[in-house]
Amino acid sequence: MKVIVASDHGGVNIRKEVTNLLEEMNIEFEDIGCDCEGSVDYPDYGIPAAERVANGEFDRAILICGTGIGMSISANKVKGVRCALVHDLFTAKVTREHNDSNVLAMGERVIGPGLAREIAKTWLSAEFEGGRHANRVSKISEYEA
Ligand code: RB5
Repeated sequence: MKVIVASDHGGVNIRKEVTNLLEEMNIEFEDIGCDCEGSVDYPDYGIPAAERVANGEFDRAILICGTGIGMSISANKVKGVRCALVHDLFTAKVTREHNDSNVLAMGERVIGPGLAREIAKTWLSAEFEGGRHANRVSKISEYEA
């Protein structure tokens, strides 16, 4: 699995937590920033990361901003991306199993680094169940097309 990671200025600390986790899990990743002192605009990071999942260069993306909302809205504009905004362990697991989400968004002003790390670990480890869920996901793809 290859993962691309990005944040705006509001998600730098959780982004570091996530890249540490990816190193521990021996998962290949690219961290595209931000390398920021001041404020930046989340679509400038979220959209390129989502595009690189959509074009097949990466399998997954993990995106962090203050709330996770800006990143999730931005990523979900990219065709082929199913971004889940997650702040609990239950939905971290179920969005993989049911929605086959390929992008995870989290908000650093909403949850702490410990929970973010467990959410990322759960999301990276859970598998899509297919079956009736595949039918539902394909209806989203058909609408996009
Ligand atoms: C930046 O201040 C903040 O708006 C951003 O990190 C995010 O929360 C947007 O959804």
